[in-house]
Amino acid sequence: VSGPVLILGASGGIGSAVARCLSQSGRHVVLHGRNARALQELAATMPGPASVQTADLIDEQAVNELFARLTAEHGRLGGVVFSIAVPFRNKLTHRIAWPVFEEQLHTQLKALHLTAAASFPLLADGESVTRFVVVSTEFVLGAPPVKTAPYVAAKAAMTSYAQVISQEWLARGIRVHIVAPGLVKTALVADMPQEFLDQMADSMPEKRLTSVEDVAAMIEFLFTDAADPFYGTPLRVSRGVRK
Ligand SMILES: NC(=O)c1ccc[n+]([C@@H]2O[C@H](COP(=O)([O-])OP(=O)(O)OC[C@H]3O[C@@H](n4cnc5c(N)ncnc54)[C@H](OP(=O)(O)O)[C@@H]3O)[C@@H](O)[C@H]2O)c1
Repeated sequence: VSGPVLILGASGGIGSAVARCLSQSGRHVVLHGRNARALQELAATMPGPASVQTADLIDEQAVNELFARLTAEHGRLGGVVFSIAVPFRNKLTHRIAWPVFEEQLHTQLKALHLTAAASFPLLADGESVTRFVVVSTEFVLGAPPVKTAPYVAAKAAMTSYAQVISQEWLARGIRVHIVAPGLVKTALVADMPQEFLDQMADSMPEKRLTSVEDVAAMIEFLFTDAADPFYGTPLRVSRGVRK
């Protein structure tokens, strides 16, 4: 990979594990989030070169400014990992107000579109293969659980979006990958009682939840030549029961 890998949502549970994994394998990582101080602390723990960028990705101007800075500092990117989310409350769909859907659509689809469009010129350098990895969810594979409509609908939209650009960008040397993790214990699910998570782990075939390391290892693999044929396909990364 030539150029650093930008990790959008690097302050999150999955994003930080991905950053650590890619840094360990010798890649320069650009850590993104909204809190500069937390990111600086994270950057200090990286084994390899790491820099920090902040931006609210649902704000078009902030995204444009972010990519202007990246262009000035690096000129090109070797890859982008899109790993952002905001929590949602588990509620029956008919009781959910529209702004909750809007928040999820903005975080998953608007932010993805703004960042994908702005990433394109930095990824399509025509010289080497670059990668754009979208973190979706296994809920989009098969029937999703109840009380998740805003999140799952937004994730389904982002997954379809990624499948379209995976075809459009292939000829420009950019491989778009989609990972679909099972439930992982991070800040995103902090509202879920530990008892519920324990019960859930107990119901899993291996009596354990999917881990951030499981997801990070898959993304590390996606940054190798061997992952070329896996472009555009949602890849389940889950310790859960197959449905
Ligand atoms: N945890 C799970 O069970 C699970 C399962 C399947 C898929 N996923 C997916 O995995 C990805 C990462 O989730 P996670 O579990 O690591 O969540 P997390 O720990 O809550 O991290 C979320 C990240 O998103 C960033 N973020 C949220 N809104 C943003 C915005 N408007 N602009 C910029 N950054 C924003 C946060 O930045 P700040 O630090 O600045 O808030 C944080 O870095 C998400 O796409 C999620 O849907 C998670």
